[in-house]
Amino acid sequence: MRVLGIESSCDETGVAIYDGQDGLLGHVLYSQIKLHADYGGVVPELASRDHIRKTIPLINQLLSQTGLALSDLDGVAYTAGPGLVGALLVGASIGRSLAWTLGLPAIPVHHMEGHLLAPMLEAEPPAFPFIALLVSGGHSMLIQVDAVGQYQLLGDSVDDAVGEAFDKTAKMLGLPYPGGPELARLAEQGRPGHYTFPRPMTDRPGLDFSFSGLKTYALNTFNASSKGDQDKADIAHAFQEAVVETLAIKCRRALQQTGLQRLVVSGGVSANSRLRQRLDKLGADERARVYYPRLEFCTDNGAMIAYAGHLRLQAGQHADVEIEARPRWKLQELEAL
Ligand code: KG4
Ligand code: ZN
Repeated sequence: MRVLGIESSCDETGVAIYDGQDGLLGHVLYSQIKLHADYGGVVPELASRDHIRKTIPLINQLLSQTGLALSDLDGVAYTAGPGLVGALLVGASIGRSLAWTLGLPAIPVHHMEGHLLAPMLEAEPPAFPFIALLVSGGHSMLIQVDAVGQYQLLGDSVDDAVGEAFDKTAKMLGLPYPGGPELARLAEQGRPGHYTFPRPMTDRPGLDFSFSGLKTYALNTFNASSKGDQDKADIAHAFQEAVVETLAIKCRRALQQTGLQRLVVSGGVSANSRLRQRLDKLGADERARVYYPRLEFCTDNGAMIAYAGHLRLQAGQHADVEIEARPRWKLQELEAL
């Protein structure tokens, strides 16, 4: 069974084809970074317009790259949410219409389920059950995953998501959008231990996250400094250390609390090399195995949507003729396979 996946929830247009037998046949990604850079962040209306321009040409590129025709497809999956409503509507309208024209089922996919399942595209995928740490621009969650669609939310962010805190702190330090990877790069020049930032919500039980205070802490530290390049690097370093350590503490708690020995880390922030290094150490300490997607599938992409769509279609799940766009959509509302 071959499924085309379309991702358009934010600032990346991604398309891919996943085959139940042969795996991922191809994927193409177009990033809107240049488009939004002048504004210092994603401008939703510009994002939608660019998805309109790019989605169909990308699908054509993918087909010629894979040597496939539309008639070789068995289903069309698209990101139905959560995300920017205009951006979602583009992928949803194109995906749903294409499926209708071809007489194929359409599968609305939950963006975070896509992220969560992305490590399954790797050579040694994790077995169920596992703990998933989902860290993206819009979410910070710890989830107990018993099977596809069986998601118990163990911890959630009470304010800014991790990626969002990275982006806002980076902006405050004068770094260009997208700030997360820029801040991570600057942190390498920071002096370890020059500043120590708090580890929010680690002094009380529970697995929820709060990162907006850390962003304010970084701002206050910056304002009290001489605002030179070394100050910025030191702040970036301290900020990243605090985030990484906080995430590691919560992951350890989740593993110990559930007794599980597999940890999946996914979403844009899982590309962060300091986070990977720290969680690999945690895995060794806790005798747990840690799984990540390959770097290009940490951030938004079509492959994870094609894969998740394929799994759901294989289980007989697909949608009626409506075009589904759900800007807010809880992972726990998904049906089990
Ligand atoms: O998963 P994603 O592409 O989009 C959402 O679903 O939100 O995640 C994007 C987020 C952004 O906030 C970006 O700054 C962050 O992931 N990010 C990083 C790194 N790479 C991407 N944050 C820290 N370090 C990185 N290397
Ligand atoms: Zn994402």
